[in-house]
Amino acid sequence: MRIRTFGPADLPTLSEIDQKCFPPGVSYPQDVLAAFIAHRSSRTWVAEHEGSIAGFLIADREPPRIGHITTIDVLEGFRRRGVGTELMDVAENWARNAGLRLIYLETAEDNLVAQAFYEARGYKKVDKVEGYYSNGQAAWVMVKHLK
Ligand SMILES: CC(C)(COP(=O)(O)OP(=O)(O)OC[C@H]1O[C@@H](n2cnc3c(N)ncnc32)[C@H](O)[C@@H]1OP(=O)(O)O)[C@@H](O)C(=O)NCCC(=O)NCCS
Repeated sequence: MRIRTFGPADLPTLSEIDQKCFPPGVSYPQDVLAAFIAHRSSRTWVAEHEGSIAGFLIADREPPRIGHITTIDVLEGFRRRGVGTELMDVAENWARNAGLRLIYLETAEDNLVAQAFYEARGYKKVDKVEGYYSNGQAAWVMVKHLK
């Protein structure tokens, strides 16, 4: 598995992966995904296995010294093999090197797998936002303080 930075040619594949990873209303339309990736304070990393994309992560930074995971997506056939861990490691290292003091993210209330994944990395649920997703679902806000 190789982690590399995003290139513009990756966009259609990342959008397809996002549609596969999330239900409608939680996944992002391709133009919205493109806007997140293009934002000047965001970073996108791609996990590649033998030339095909297995997953990706988009992170962003906000004042004051806060990181945000916009999305992390690993294709079903590649899950539970450490791909998500590698992507999060890269994002957290970027955040530390940028001097950020915490990272937060939102995850759907019914996404127990993601909650287990983040909790195993030290993220804690701090707030629940009703109706966060466009399909009406609530989100947990989870936070990790970086050392
Ligand atoms: C959440 C997600 C990114 C995890 O990616 P992954 O590559 O499968 O994760 P890893 O293999 O690195 O797992 C690391 C640890 O997370 C936890 N974890 C991962 N998947 C889990 C599952 N299905 N059930 C319970 N714990 C799980 C485990 O502690 C795991 O360590 P272990 O395999 O040694 O037990 C992936 O399931 C995914 O893309 N899901 C769909 C999209 C999504 O929900 N994204 C996050 C929403 S905000």
